[in-house]
Amino acid sequence: MVDEQLVDRLTAAARAAREQAYAPYSRFRVGAALLDEQGHIHAGCNVENAAYPQGTCAEAGALAAMVLAGGRRLRAVLVLGEGDIACTPCGGCRQKLREFGPDELPVLVADTTGVRARYTLGELLPASFGPQHLKDLAE
Ligand code: THU
Repeated sequence: MVDEQLVDRLTAAARAAREQAYAPYSRFRVGAALLDEQGHIHAGCNVENAAYPQGTCAEAGALAAMVLAGGRRLRAVLVLGEGDIACTPCGGCRQKLREFGPDELPVLVADTTGVRARYTLGELLPASFGPQHLKDLAE
C-alpha cells in the first residue's frame, strides 16, 4: 500500500532526479525513485550516450544508488516521464526491478502533473525469472 504521503515523497524525488537527466539525443527525460526496506528513498535519472546502446535508464541509476547505500529490497517504485503516453518502465528495467522486488511490488507511473497509473511488478512482468530460480545453485 502506497499512501499519499509516500506518493508525494517519491514524486518529489523522481521529479528532482529528472531535472538532472542527461538526454541530449532523445530529449526524453526520466526520473525514478525507489523506496527500500529501510524506508530510504533512492533516485536516478536517464544518462544517454553518443554510442546509443550505452545509455542507461533512470531505474538503473536509482537501483545502483540503492545498492550502494545498502538497500536490498524494494518496497515501492515511481517512474516519472513526460508526454501523452504514460512512461512505463522498459522491459529491461522490469527485469532489473525484479531482482530486488516481488510480484506485489507497487510500480507507479507519473508525469509532471502527477501519478497516471499504478501497477504491480507482476502485472508488468508476469511469470518472471528471478533470483529464486537460482537458489538451489547458490552456496
Ligand atoms: N527511459 C528510461 O529512463 N526509463 C524507462 O523505463 C524508459 C526509457 C529513457 C531511456 C532513454 O534515455 C529515453 O528514456 C528514451 O528512450
